[in-house]
Amino acid sequence: MSFFMPTKLYSGRDCIKNNASVFSAFGKKALIVTGRTSAKASGALDDIISVLQKDNIAYDIFDKVLNNPTVENCYEGGMLAKKSNVDFIVAIGGGSPLDASKAIAMYATNDIEPLDIFLGEQKNKPLSIIAVPTTAGTGSEVTQYSVLTVDSEETKKSFSTNDTFATVAFLDARYTESLPLGITIDTAVDALSHSLESILNKRTNKFSELYAKEALKLIGKAIPALISGDITFEIREILLLASMYAGVSIAQTGTTVVHSMGYPLTYYKGLTHGNANGLLLSSFLEGCDKANHSLVNELLGYLGLEDLNEFDEVLKKLMPNRNILTNEEAKKFASKTIKAKNVASCIWDITEAEEYSFFAKLTK
Ligand SMILES: [Fe+2]
Repeated sequence: MSFFMPTKLYSGRDCIKNNASVFSAFGKKALIVTGRTSAKASGALDDIISVLQKDNIAYDIFDKVLNNPTVENCYEGGMLAKKSNVDFIVAIGGGSPLDASKAIAMYATNDIEPLDIFLGEQKNKPLSIIAVPTTAGTGSEVTQYSVLTVDSEETKKSFSTNDTFATVAFLDARYTESLPLGITIDTAVDALSHSLESILNKRTNKFSELYAKEALKLIGKAIPALISGDITFEIREILLLASMYAGVSIAQTGTTVVHSMGYPLTYYKGLTHGNANGLLLSSFLEGCDKANHSLVNELLGYLGLEDLNEFDEVLKKLMPNRNILTNEEAKKFASKTIKAKNVASCIWDITEAEEYSFFAKLTK
């Protein structure tokens, strides 16, 4: 049994401004890594630039991170980091910029081909990362994982090393206030998926369980607000904390079939990552229930839900659009995802036929 989470966390309103002295220890020049809009809209970019300027830290900005970033997209960022000779990275955004920053940090210090990133450990350590999440769901600020799109294999793949955890993360729920309701829901469901997949996982342990169970209790508190759409600041703080706890738990265990099966729904059908997971969660819990009914019951209790039916009703309210696949797609996705490495962590030996039956529930 082991537990590893080396990221130093600062949380609360204005935590960046209140801890501005943290930045100077990282060097004289930063690369800010972000997407096109969220860093600016959230106010996080302005806060970061103001503390960097105060500390006389120069910076370049790479704001071209795509939704579901490709390896080539991250390689471009890595080449900019090299050319600009930066000392560290400040990643601002949702899962896409945060995950991309880990690859950019690795490309910046190693002369490797884009796809060599999946070999894992490299000759040189990556640049240090300061992470500022602007969504509450990915947990990427406290995980070693970087999930990247690989067009040549028509899927998403992850790489991780012990050095790809962010060194510091700032959790300020103000940065999630500008998110539309749909993204708030989808990202919250990603955190829900992380918590469930971490516990209902062959690799779960007492340490990871602590965090995953706490995350479920927090998400349970937020479910009525997610359904009504009345997302107060207090709820945003709860969701950001839940996302972080769930991230700490998957950093120990990894995810399992829901994430593996969700990737084709994102790659081929354009669903957001959280939405893709959400459409598969009820089927996953039903399968887990056959393998370990008392555990599934306990977890539903943390969410404040009676049974699997109520869980399914909640997911259907949050994500009503379900008839999205053809039968051919359901077959193709099952045959593709049964080979994914996270499938082995499933608490029962899931078959291709079962995966097909999960996808078949989403057919037109
Ligand atoms: Fe996820």
